[in-house]
Amino acid sequence: MADSFKLELTQRPRRLRRTASLRALIEETVLRPQDFIAPLFVVDGKEAPEPIGSMPGVMRLDVADLVKECRALAKLGVPAVALFPKLDAKFKDEEGSAALHEDALILRAVRAVKKAVPGITVITDIALDPYTTHGHDGVLTVDGLDVANDRTVEILARMAVLHARAGVDLVAPSDMMDGRIGAIRRALDAAGFSQTGIMAYSVKFASAYYGPFRDAVGSAKAAGAKLLSKATYQLNPANRREALVELALDEAEGADIVMVKPAGLYLDIIRDVREATQRPVAAYQISGEYAQIHAAAQLGWLDLARCRHESLLAIKRAGADMILTYFAKDMALALR
Ligand code: PBG
Repeated sequence: MADSFKLELTQRPRRLRRTASLRALIEETVLRPQDFIAPLFVVDGKEAPEPIGSMPGVMRLDVADLVKECRALAKLGVPAVALFPKLDAKFKDEEGSAALHEDALILRAVRAVKKAVPGITVITDIALDPYTTHGHDGVLTVDGLDVANDRTVEILARMAVLHARAGVDLVAPSDMMDGRIGAIRRALDAAGFSQTGIMAYSVKFASAYYGPFRDAVGSAKAAGAKLLSKATYQLNPANRREALVELALDEAEGADIVMVKPAGLYLDIIRDVREATQRPVAAYQISGEYAQIHAAAQLGWLDLARCRHESLLAIKRAGADMILTYFAKDMALALR
């Protein structure tokens, strides 16, 4: 009965899925080690390397180990790293003033990496959250109820110049203040760093999935608040058109690369941004996306390697030219 039933079909898409070699020929999206940017956490001496509980396999590294890790990544074909400092609480204050110290941990880290592995692209975050006691990305308004936009931008522009002087290839403002891309571009140019680029966190949503990262850099506990709300500067996850407003502003202000963050839950936004701009598009598979896959794998509910691959493939297919991911090294190893 089943065999005698035959559909009269002109198109049978399964014909091209019949063998592995046919499937290879029609594959549309391919992941390569050079698609990835590895976010790395750096910490001052003593306790390093320090595991991060909510991010299995990710360590806070001291500068010497950071250099080794960058060398290993370069060897594996990963072209870039994004560095994040974790400061001891005693260096934090309300104003995040350690962000402007000439001997800041992050500046020492950048110099060491650029000296030992000059070929790797070094990206640093421009925001105050690792430096403030309250964990916000900027300084607070006089009433303490919000982050002050223009005063924060002024500090971030100075911070970007310090990072450029230390040798970063790209500064990455992740703060979502209005006008910061233009202000940083002008400050870099005025200081003679016209070749230092800006990877703008253009479309950064106020996500609950940043939790593990905030553990990693110790920015989680703002003035007793359990879950730090950044809703007055990061985008509402409900909004799609607003993403394009932010994109247009950052482009006009001089962003070289634009970023969407988080990635996996925002594939529609990545696609929108891809279609709206001619600039390279980056996407950030954030800490919570990484933690989720690891947690399910630890429970034996999902296959780690396959979910890792599929999650990144989807982000690239949506339109990302490059992906910041804590899986960068594992992917580069798996793709060898
Ligand atoms: C802060 C910053 C955050 C991340 C990168 N830079 C967190 C936040 O906005 O609170 C998140 C990265 C991640 O979750 O992996 N400027």
